[in-house]
Amino acid sequence: MKRGGSDEAKRRAGESAVEAVEDGTVVGLGTGSTTAHAIRALGEAVENGLDVEGIPTSYQSRELAREVGIPLTTLDDATPDIAIDGADQAAEGDLIKGGGAAHAREKLVDAAADRFLVVVDDSKLADALSVPVPVELLPDARTTVADRVRDLGGDPALRAAERKDGPVVTDNGNLVLDCDFGEIGDPAELAATLSTVPGVVDHGLFVGLADEIHVGSADGVTVRRPES
Ligand code: 5RP
Repeated sequence: MKRGGSDEAKRRAGESAVEAVEDGTVVGLGTGSTTAHAIRALGEAVENGLDVEGIPTSYQSRELAREVGIPLTTLDDATPDIAIDGADQAAEGDLIKGGGAAHAREKLVDAAADRFLVVVDDSKLADALSVPVPVELLPDARTTVADRVRDLGGDPALRAAERKDGPVVTDNGNLVLDCDFGEIGDPAELAATLSTVPGVVDHGLFVGLADEIHVGSADGVTVRRPES
C-alpha cells in the first residue's frame, strides 16, 4: 500500500541504513515500502559477497528477502545485531508503526536488535505523534478493546481489507483497530496503558526504541540520533 512521500526519498533512506550493516551480522528486516528498498539493497550486497542472515517481520519481508537471496534465520536461533524498519510517523525518537499491520512482529524483532535503524521519507516527520495508533487484538476482544480505547479518549476504527470483504486479518490471525487519539501528549504513558488492556496483542507506539532515523528527501539523506 502507498504511504508517505516519494519513492525516491524512501529508496535513499533504505539504502543509507544498509550501509551500516557489517559482515557476519544478523539483520532484522522490517515491513513496508521503505524497508523494501533496504531489503533489495541488502540483497545486492549479499550477491556481492556480504555474509548476513535476516530475520523477517512479516510474510511480505520474508518473501522479498527470499526473492533477493538473503539467507534467513529466526529469533529462536539468533539475535539481530541491527534492525531496519520503516514508520508511519516519527517525532523525536518516538514512532507510530503498523500501517502494514505488522507492528507486533516488528516490535519483537526491532526491540531485540542491538541497534534499531528507522527508515522514513521526510513526509513522516512530525513535532508530535498524531496519526491513528494501530492496535492488534485477538478477534474475540474487538468490542472490549474498542470500549477501553474510547475510555482512554480514542476513536477506534476496525481496519477494513481492501481486496477482500471484511476486516484485515494480520499475519498472526488477529484484527487491527486504528485508534485516533489526536495529538498524543505522552506517548510513553499511552503505550504503557494500551499494553495492559486484555486482548491487545501489541500496538504501534514504539517509544524510545530507535537508535537512528535515516530520513530520505528530494535532496539526500540525513541521519538523526535521538537522545536516549
Ligand atoms: C508496517 C509498518 C511500516 O514500516 C510502516 O507502515 C511504513 O510503511 P511505508 O514504508 O510503506 O510507508 O509499520 O506495519
